[in-house]
Amino acid sequence: MAVSIKSAREIELMRESCRLLAQVHEELGKAIRPGMSTLEIDTLGEKMIRELGCVPNFKDYHGYPASVCVSVNNEVVHGIPSKHRILKEGDIVSLDAGLIYQGYHSDAARTHAVGKISPEAEKLIEVTKQSFFEGIKMAKAGNHLFDISNAIDAYVSQFGYGIVRDLCGHGIGTSLHEDPQIPNFAQRRRGMKLRPGMTLAIEPMINAGTWEVEWLEDDWTVVSADGSLSAHYENTVLITEGEPEILTLV
Ligand code: MF3
Ligand code: CO
Repeated sequence: MAVSIKSAREIELMRESCRLLAQVHEELGKAIRPGMSTLEIDTLGEKMIRELGCVPNFKDYHGYPASVCVSVNNEVVHGIPSKHRILKEGDIVSLDAGLIYQGYHSDAARTHAVGKISPEAEKLIEVTKQSFFEGIKMAKAGNHLFDISNAIDAYVSQFGYGIVRDLCGHGIGTSLHEDPQIPNFAQRRRGMKLRPGMTLAIEPMINAGTWEVEWLEDDWTVVSADGSLSAHYENTVLITEGEPEILTLV
C-alpha cells in the first residue's frame, strides 16, 4: 500500500480528530489514582470519546474488546481493561487510546505514575517520552523515515534500556494502521523520503530490561520477557516542510 498524502481538507480533519483525542488523554491522566480498576479507565475513556461525537477505533479492532489499552508495569501494550485489576500506589500505567472523527483516525499513548513511584520508574517514563521528541526532530520533509528510528535508538540506547522490536509506529489516516511501519530501533537502510502531508503515529515502547517481549494467554497483552517495567509514548504527527506538527498534544 502506498503512503497517503493528506489534502488540506484531510489535514483539518486529522487535526480535529487528534485535538479531541488529546483532550481525552488529558482527562484520563487526571483521573488516575490508586484503587481504581483498569476497567474504570476504559469506561471513562469510551464515554468521553462518544460524548465528543466520535467512535473509539480500538474497540473490536481485530477483536480487541475495549476502547483504551491499559497496560500496567511489565505490560508493554494492549493490556485488556478488567474490573479485577486494581491500580496501586507505585504502579506505572500506560494508556493507549484512539478515536475516529468524521472518518479520520487519531492514536496516542502516555504512561502515567500511580501515586508516588520509584526513581527508576520515573526515569523510564521520562526517557521514553524524550525518545519520541528526539525521533521527531528528524521528522521533516526531505529526511528519511528511518532517520526517526535511528534517532530514537541512539537516544534510548545510552540508558541501557530495551527497545521493543516486535511492534512499530505506523501511518494513520482513514485507517488506524496505514503504511509505512516505523520501527523504534536502528535500521540499516534509510527508508522512504518523508513528504509534507504524511501523518504518522510515532510510538516508542521501551523496557527497563531486555527488548524481548511475550504475549499473555489472552493473545493481546504484550509483556516484557524479563518482567521489567515498560513505558509507551505516542503521538500522531503531521509532516510539513519545516517542524513537524504534533497533533495529539493539547
Ligand atoms: N494504539 C495501538 C497502535 O498504535 C493500537 C491498538 S490496537 C488494539 O497500534 F486493538 F489493541 F486496540
Ligand atoms: Co499506534
